[in-house]
Amino acid sequence: MTFGVPDSAGVPAGIASDTLTVPYNDLEAARALFAEVGSEIAAFIIEPVAGNMGVVLPRPGYLEGLRTLTREAGALLIFDEVITGFRLALGGAQERYGIQPDLTTLGKIIGGGLPVGAYGGRAEIMDRIAPEGPVYQAGTLSGTPLAVTAGQAALDALVREPPYAALERLGATLAEGLLAGARERGVPLVVNRVGSMLTGFFTAAPVSDYSSAKLSDTARYARFHLAMLERGIYLAPSQFEAAFVSTAHSGSDLDRTLSAAREALRDL
Ligand SMILES: Cc1ncc(COP(=O)(O)O)c(C=O)c1O
Repeated sequence: MTFGVPDSAGVPAGIASDTLTVPYNDLEAARALFAEVGSEIAAFIIEPVAGNMGVVLPRPGYLEGLRTLTREAGALLIFDEVITGFRLALGGAQERYGIQPDLTTLGKIIGGGLPVGAYGGRAEIMDRIAPEGPVYQAGTLSGTPLAVTAGQAALDALVREPPYAALERLGATLAEGLLAGARERGVPLVVNRVGSMLTGFFTAAPVSDYSSAKLSDTARYARFHLAMLERGIYLAPSQFEAAFVSTAHSGSDLDRTLSAAREALRDL
């Protein structure tokens, strides 16, 4: 059995050739991959909740299955929590779904609005990084005080006033309102949501991976996007992106968004 290499557009061929891909949510494909080349796999990296094909939730048992597979094969499980970190819970998707990866990558929220990224994980792995270990990692802006201070302030605020219950309510209101609006207009729409992140896909069938996401009517999404823009609501310009509710959004912002969506859906 052979496995796909990523679309090499923009990705150096040497790096692409060291990478194997399997479809999201397909535990059988991951099992087959590990059965064939498990001893050569250094790490399995995944967005625990996908945000970059639109929001796609892990099926029950999928992340658990990956945890078992990687542990058995001696490969690291890396969660890319650049989107989900601090968004789905203070401890990210790994807290929400109760799965502990070996390494985690973070960005966005951890910078409190300033550009910063971070990674972390088990001490025995992090001890491999200089100065404790032999893996040198540094850069002009590594640990830059401005971004780190902003990030610390953002994290302190999340601990002081956890926004997660309110975000859950706002996210649910938005998802239910979009679905109700689409039903009223007879427009097929699937809304995938967890917490404050969601995507409405213009399709009737469940969206559980990139292939099913691609069945969405992207021309219809483009018309919807424009109709929303004309009403002052700026959604992501691609069907395959996520929408986020934030602590800055109020109930009246959502009312405005949903009344614009009802009009926009009518005009599709
Ligand atoms: C899930 C995910 N991982 C990684 C990245 C890349 O992050 P950065 O631009 O901080 O390298 C992004 C960027 O949006 C992302 O959404």
